[in-house]
Amino acid sequence: MACTAQPATSVAAGNTQGKWWKDGVVYQVYPASFMDSNGDGLGDIRGITSKLDYIKSIGATTIWVCPHYDSPQFDLGYDISDYESVFPPYGTLQDMDDLISGCHSRGLKIIVDLVINHTSYLHKWFQESRSSKSNPKRDWYIWRPAKYNANGRRIPPNNWRSNFSTNAWTWDEATQEYYLHLFCPEQPDLNWENPETRKAIYASAIEFWLKKGVDGFRVDTVNMYSKPKDLPDAPIINPKAEHQGAASLYCNGPRMHEFLSEMHDVMAPYDTMTVGECPNTPDRSKVLKYVSAAEKQLDMVFLFDVVDVGQGTETKYDTTPRNWTLPVLKKAVNNSQSLIIGTDAWTTSFMENHDQARSISRFASDAPEHRVHSGRMLAMLNATLSGTLFIYQGQEIGMINMPEDWPIEEYKDVESGNFYKYVARATNSDPVALAKAKAAIQHLSRDHARYPMCWDSTPQGGFSTNPKTWMRVHDLTDEINVAQQEADEGSVLNFWRRMLKVRQDYSKLLVHGYYEVLDEKNEHTYSYWKTSKDSRALVVLNFTHRAQDLELPKVETGGRLNLAISTYEHSTGAFDSLRPYEGRLYILECET
Ligand code: GLC
Ligand code: CA
Repeated sequence: MACTAQPATSVAAGNTQGKWWKDGVVYQVYPASFMDSNGDGLGDIRGITSKLDYIKSIGATTIWVCPHYDSPQFDLGYDISDYESVFPPYGTLQDMDDLISGCHSRGLKIIVDLVINHTSYLHKWFQESRSSKSNPKRDWYIWRPAKYNANGRRIPPNNWRSNFSTNAWTWDEATQEYYLHLFCPEQPDLNWENPETRKAIYASAIEFWLKKGVDGFRVDTVNMYSKPKDLPDAPIINPKAEHQGAASLYCNGPRMHEFLSEMHDVMAPYDTMTVGECPNTPDRSKVLKYVSAAEKQLDMVFLFDVVDVGQGTETKYDTTPRNWTLPVLKKAVNNSQSLIIGTDAWTTSFMENHDQARSISRFASDAPEHRVHSGRMLAMLNATLSGTLFIYQGQEIGMINMPEDWPIEEYKDVESGNFYKYVARATNSDPVALAKAKAAIQHLSRDHARYPMCWDSTPQGGFSTNPKTWMRVHDLTDEINVAQQEADEGSVLNFWRRMLKVRQDYSKLLVHGYYEVLDEKNEHTYSYWKTSKDSRALVVLNFTHRAQDLELPKVETGGRLNLAISTYEHSTGAFDSLRPYEGRLYILECET
């Protein structure tokens, strides 16, 4: 390869116009688990504000706060009862104002979660809607009459299963109809077909917060607002189950693009960033339509390819731990990286969020001897991929899954809890089936992202002064925490800091560059080029606990690969093999 040569395909590398969010690094905060400022055992808004200097010190430029709104917390805040007020245990509107200004005074941007596919059943809109069939807000939610089977038994309008292992319909005794909920029964779906409903959503959930100064939104379940006409039955994939997965029907429905364009127009007067959560969208042209700059819908989306690696297909937990190979992960990464090649679209790089187990435990090794190297290696992967980079709280210190010996009672999330109950019901509490379910939950559940952040080695890991924290503090808090890592040059935290500096220094390559994998089929190592108009970077990563041979690609004329950063210390030569979970980044320097 010639030193200055362009890669085989054109270097399109997205639309590089200088939007603040493209080069941004977003740090995601889960309020319940980040920092408790008043000793009630639950995180809160003031706790977040107290840690803004820390967040900034990592190299983040934006924070994303998971739902802070008033809510009965059936789905930990994703069931909002009032868009315009704060969950009282988290604080007040004044605390949110202080958080927003605390961010801005430090040069940080702030985005909040926008959860508008559904509300809480306690939202006044739903309370009115369910009060009678003739209520003016009846049509703001999705109500349908019952059906009856051959035996005359009342059955729901269709066979859809919710995302939480239950029926997607709940019968309302008072008005004798079913309402639809793609998540908990306490999260009724809004009816986006009604223009008045959409207007109310925009005013209450979007404009209210834009006027308060937030810089944009992470848009929850962004592709589910438009349901297919007539709500048809889902194909029967599991004949034994009463309800069937229906995501292919309720995701990316017929009016999605129209709704998102309309929402875009509401935000247009503000300088916002939007990132939509986009599950179940294998169709590339659909994705491009959401994120192409010309389409004016969303700035970027979270595709699920990477975080779905190793999960079951029929249901997430229908799998065994580590049920994936490295080529599968590479393919998943390629799906989101290739979005910006030759298009005007933008993409994201992320491996964790509040819905995912910890990446070290899933994709590398959380064994004591490999934990730190795994954390650094995955940091290198995340920070050298194109698109806006998202880091989830605790990822920067290499937090790992909850310990294997914690009983199922330590899992608090409705998703894992419902799945475990479902298996118990379906198998009459068969111990083998329950053990399999627990193993899958121990590997993949959302709870692993939700136990308290580990700040130091004081009781409760510095998260709270209250010994009764809402979720149990990790047993390894003494070993994996911010304070200890601040003091350690070789820590995962300090590696992230260095990596984010390198990402910024080589932004054209690492944030905007064209990605091209070199060893697609290799099950042990993962290597790729990042290319910009005038330079190239090479990333090589060892995904195993053994040394792996390393053969660097030949640079034919006038250049050489210089090591820019490694996850190991490199005092001596020995460049010909990668140590366990080692990652290196080389920059191609041209000889002049
Ligand atoms: C999204 C959220 C998740 C929530 C669901 C329902 O997937 O990330 O936490 O349970 O939407 O709002
Ligand atoms: Ca608190």
